Amino acid sequence: MHENADNKPTALITGAFGGIGKSICEAFFEAGYRVIGVDRKDAGELPYEVLRFDISRLGWDDAARQSFYARVEELCQGRLDALVNNAAIQIVKPIEGITLSDWTETLDTNLLAPFWLIQRFLPLLRVAKGCAVNIASIHAIVTKSDFTVYATSKGALVSLTRALAIELAPDVRVNAIIPAATDTPMLRAGFGDNLDGLQQLGEYHPLRRIARPEEVAKVALFLADPQNSFMTGTAVNVDGGIGACLHDPVVTR
Ligand SMILES: NC(=O)c1ccc[n+]([C@@H]2O[C@H](COP(=O)([O-])OP(=O)(O)OC[C@H]3O[C@@H](n4cnc5c(N)ncnc54)[C@H](O)[C@@H]3O)[C@@H](O)[C@H]2O)c1
Repeated sequence: MHENADNKPTALITGAFGGIGKSICEAFFEAGYRVIGVDRKDAGELPYEVLRFDISRLGWDDAARQSFYARVEELCQGRLDALVNNAAIQIVKPIEGITLSDWTETLDTNLLAPFWLIQRFLPLLRVAKGCAVNIASIHAIVTKSDFTVYATSKGALVSLTRALAIELAPDVRVNAIIPAATDTPMLRAGFGDNLDGLQQLGEYHPLRRIARPEEVAKVALFLADPQNSFMTGTAVNVDGGIGACLHDPVVTR
């Protein structure tokens, strides 16, 4: 493996073409990181490298996995400071319609891929005294009907964050972010043409709006910053206060 010629801190970021992922890549790039993005979609030219790969294959497709890992290592050039596990899928269905493939696709992408990536790149993260940042969801804590598969995957991702933070200390820090509704394609897909519903969702948050992707990205950058060196095993809410809000029918104001 080559030495990282310009010795830049390096970040591997999944879901790089998504709403939040693109903001995370930009935030790390602007902060001086060498950014290696990963996404299963192809979305054209960017000022940093993005590998096209389906991370749900990491657990079982040996050939695809080996060539992907080799490519990442080539781009890392012996240095990995931050791994941001951001890619996820969201299947919304009532319980009667949930299939085995809904579970496997969701858990392979949202839970197991973060684990496989941390496991594979642990030696580099250890050398760098680096960190992993797992993008969870408010659904890890509070949820609603039809989100069983997604909510379970995100709850487990927060548990994984704690478990790995303990096992990998003191060398590698592992933290999670718990965003609430954030203005991205994933969120808008759930509303379709129902823009009133989207507006109402914003109003329901104590800060009276949904998040902007860059508000999540800034927290990812903060958690990755070696100066925030005493933070591990935590899950930081970026939720406009909705996770703190008691929902009952009695309105006092
Ligand atoms: N948008 C929200 O309201 C919200 C709220 C809470 C948490 N989150 C979380 O934030 C993260 C980003 O969400 P987003 O809203 O930007 O979603 P998004 O759908 O806009 O982006 C997700 C990206 O991940 C990629 N991806 C999905 N599966 C993949 C796979 N198997 N391999 C490689 N790439 C894959 C997609 O192609 C897409 O570009 C997710 O973990 C999501 O669960 C989002």
